[in-house]
Amino acid sequence: MKTLYYAAASLDGFIATEDDSLDWLFPLGNVDDTSYPAFIAEVGAVAMGSATYEWMLHHADKVALETGSAWPYTQPVWIFSSRALPTVKGANIHFVHGDVRPVHAEMIKAAGSKNIWIVGGGDLAGQFYDAGLLDEIIVQVGSVTLGKGKPLFPRRLVTPPLTLLSVQQFGSGLAELRYQVPKYVP
Ligand SMILES: NC(=O)c1ccc[n+]([C@@H]2O[C@H](COP(=O)([O-])OP(=O)(O)OC[C@H]3O[C@@H](n4cnc5c(N)ncnc54)[C@H](OP(=O)(O)O)[C@@H]3O)[C@@H](O)[C@H]2O)c1
Repeated sequence: MKTLYYAAASLDGFIATEDDSLDWLFPLGNVDDTSYPAFIAEVGAVAMGSATYEWMLHHADKVALETGSAWPYTQPVWIFSSRALPTVKGANIHFVHGDVRPVHAEMIKAAGSKNIWIVGGGDLAGQFYDAGLLDEIIVQVGSVTLGKGKPLFPRRLVTPPLTLLSVQQFGSGLAELRYQVPKYVP
């Protein structure tokens, strides 16, 4: 069981535009032709920040088109927010805030032998890293640049560096890089 930050980013390191658009991402490849189906089959618990959650609520039709369902997760999902947010009927959602460590402990219990997926955004993945809880970063690097936007991973991670575990190409639009994360030493 691992805690994985699995996300797609532009070549210049952004997971969304400044105004939370993902329109640049969908033309880059069909999700069924990527590692996603095998990845999600091994996920037992999911975490995301409120901007990511609200994007899903506001783009339910697009999510349904890409994944076959407006709320595609059968797994329990933990949403980090300091605000009261609407829930999704029939979804297994937990609204949480603050320290990621007790939430991670809950997620481990729920995930069983499966992995924990940190969907994003980048700072939330960084919070799990800061707490020493992030095992791998898996990023599909898209063949586009955005110039500015929401960062993939707003942390300084230099010494020791990430360990590159694998590189995989999906068509001409996506290159997947899989990294092992060194434990954070403050
Ligand atoms: N390309 C990809 O694969 C990919 C992956 C994920 C997301 N995205 C997109 O990228 C954008 C991500 O937006 P983002 O970077 O702003 O990140 P986000 O993590 O989705 O949302 C950030 C917000 O979550 C809440 N939050 C985060 N940590 C918290 C904590 N510990 N306690 C309480 N609240 C906490 C805060 O808002 P409040 O407290 O105000 O609620 C914070 O402003 C979205 O557009 C999303 O759709 C893309």
